[in-house]
Amino acid sequence: MIEKIKALLEEVSNFTTESMDEVEAFRIRMLSKKGEIPSLFKDFKSVDPSERKEVGRQLNILKQKATERLSSLKTRLEEEALAKKLEGRKPDTTMPAGFNPIGGRHPLSVVRNRINSIFERIGFVISEGPEIEDDWHNFSALNFPEEHPARDMQDTFFVSKDPDIALRTHTSSVQVRVMETQKPPIRTISPGRVFRNEAISARAHCIFHQVEGLYIDQGVSFADMKQCLLYFAREMFGKDTRIRLRPSFFPFTEPSAEMDVSCNICGGPGCPICKYSGWIEVMGCGMVDPNVLENCGIDSKKYSGYAFGMGIERIAMNIYQIKDLRMFFENDLRFLRQFKSAI
Ligand code: PHE
Repeated sequence: MIEKIKALLEEVSNFTTESMDEVEAFRIRMLSKKGEIPSLFKDFKSVDPSERKEVGRQLNILKQKATERLSSLKTRLEEEALAKKLEGRKPDTTMPAGFNPIGGRHPLSVVRNRINSIFERIGFVISEGPEIEDDWHNFSALNFPEEHPARDMQDTFFVSKDPDIALRTHTSSVQVRVMETQKPPIRTISPGRVFRNEAISARAHCIFHQVEGLYIDQGVSFADMKQCLLYFAREMFGKDTRIRLRPSFFPFTEPSAEMDVSCNICGGPGCPICKYSGWIEVMGCGMVDPNVLENCGIDSKKYSGYAFGMGIERIAMNIYQIKDLRMFFENDLRFLRQFKSAI
């Protein structure tokens, strides 16, 4: 039996062909039910027990080699046949291209990019800073009195007490850093994520995004600020947009104002979006308080400036008529896909 196995092994390793039919014939002769190898397995019963171990081993090797040989020949022949079929064929450039679904930008990024580019066009430079801030940059340098309610745990997420380290509550902190390190004229906007300890609702979230602006030079006036913000409002909401400034208060600006834009939906007479007032509140602004300039090492006798700050979510809600702010943070694809074409 050993002899027979050896002979077949040799045959298997020498076997080669260019024809698929011969491969099949060889398979039938060797491995089919009544083929050489299964017959040997059948005869195995009659092998002398002392030889069984060795014969069994050789038999298994034979079966494995035959299977491998057949499958490698088959693969080679199939590949050659395919290559032959494709030979001389040119790619068909008229075939429709494969469809690759593309992603889209998040609506908050779309609106932030638009705000940035509107200000960049008139010379503002983007500056960024840390989201975890110390008390000085977020509050003290900005003229917040020691007992100001914003410093309360209720409004601010503190990371540590003494030293006071907190998640920044506005990106005005970045502007302090800019004033400390640069000399006027300064023209900068700081987009970024901010954090406030607020209950989450359709109109408020504990994380949101701002763009704040700062302009400092000699002889900067409230009228300059008004003109700059009118330009912004018209670029952002449409060329017929009007603005109005209402007196307000911020510790870091004096005088301070709240800016409204005429409702871009109804144009003024009133609708559900502007709650029938004709106006939509978009940002806080004002002339930088001289104390803030001095805190940052800028001579307040020589220089003056204005600052403004807006929430990106609020503007995006207005532009796209989104009723619930939470949608920006839920990553629901049905919502996000609607902004696919926005850039
Ligand atoms: N920092 C203010 C806020 O977060 C916005 C603001 C910026 C107001 C600059 C006036 C001037 O609400």
